[in-house]
Amino acid sequence: MASVPNIRLNNGVEIPQLGFGVFLVKPEECVEAVSNALDVGYRHIDTAEMYGNEKEVGEAIRRSGLDRSEVFVTSKLNNNKHARDDALKAFDQTLDDLGFDYLDLFLVHWPLPGIDVDYVETWKAMEEISASGRCRAIGVSNFHEHHLQRILEATETRPAVNQIEVSPYLTQDPLRALNHEHGIAIEAWSPIARGKVNDDPAIQQIAESVGRTPAQVVLRWHVQRGDIVFPKSIKRQRMAENFALFDFELDESSMSALTALDRGERTGPNPDEFNYVP
Ligand SMILES: NC(=O)c1ccc[n+]([C@@H]2O[C@H](COP(=O)([O-])OP(=O)(O)OC[C@H]3O[C@@H](n4cnc5c(N)ncnc54)[C@H](OP(=O)(O)O)[C@@H]3O)[C@@H](O)[C@H]2O)c1
Repeated sequence: MASVPNIRLNNGVEIPQLGFGVFLVKPEECVEAVSNALDVGYRHIDTAEMYGNEKEVGEAIRRSGLDRSEVFVTSKLNNNKHARDDALKAFDQTLDDLGFDYLDLFLVHWPLPGIDVDYVETWKAMEEISASGRCRAIGVSNFHEHHLQRILEATETRPAVNQIEVSPYLTQDPLRALNHEHGIAIEAWSPIARGKVNDDPAIQQIAESVGRTPAQVVLRWHVQRGDIVFPKSIKRQRMAENFALFDFELDESSMSALTALDRGERTGPNPDEFNYVP
């Protein structure tokens, strides 16, 4: 099996380019799902306090017998924890729930327009978390250009990653370019548009031409664009399908045809409008 390449983040930390996401994986199915993913070969898990399954992610990693250092784990600060003291406590709680003494990557989950706490202050709390030595890298999620610009102007630490929605239907190229300019790696969430790509005739045609599935072709498109991806599936067969991306390549015309499917279509909320606080 071809191995998963690492991406080097702007602070030198290495992250596997392909991981396993656990949004909408129920706690009662999460230990089994993550155990299967680790067994298939995934060594990078993307969770969040908001997903309600950090305990189960930690449990599956412990049960796997893998060394903690062999699995890259990301979690995210919840929307009701943006104030400095709340953020520091939330990070401690995330570590407790995972049962870890350090985290690989911690993200501000959403910028949250219109709430009392300015995300620039939240980012300063993230810098404190980083300085504590218990988190190898910090980053943001769902930050548009204007959110990033404020962080870059007002604080000292560049985010290591920006985790944003990206798929062939939402290519996000201007935002990706700004991130690249500042050495911020892109993590593409909902990379297969929650499975929608499977029913797309244009994608099916490219998939047939390379003898792969539509999901594999789209995940390969992300990988060749240099983005980090972590598709979610509770089905072991699909986990294996989504993992088999490193023994084929898409040519330029297939890459361009997939990029040309952009229609600005989101599967999730627009970060400029989303201000859900639990
Ligand atoms: N930062 C954020 O705000 C944010 C937001 C959303 C997601 N994320 C992260 O990104 C990860 C991935 O995004 P996502 O879970 O929203 O969407 P996704 O990975 O694009 O798609 C997951 C959906 O596609 C199905 N699926 C998986 N593999 C498939 C395949 N090979 N063929 C057909 N269908 C397949 C899954 O169903 P089954 O499970 O039934 O197989 C599930 O319904 C999340 O798990 C989470 O870690 C982050």
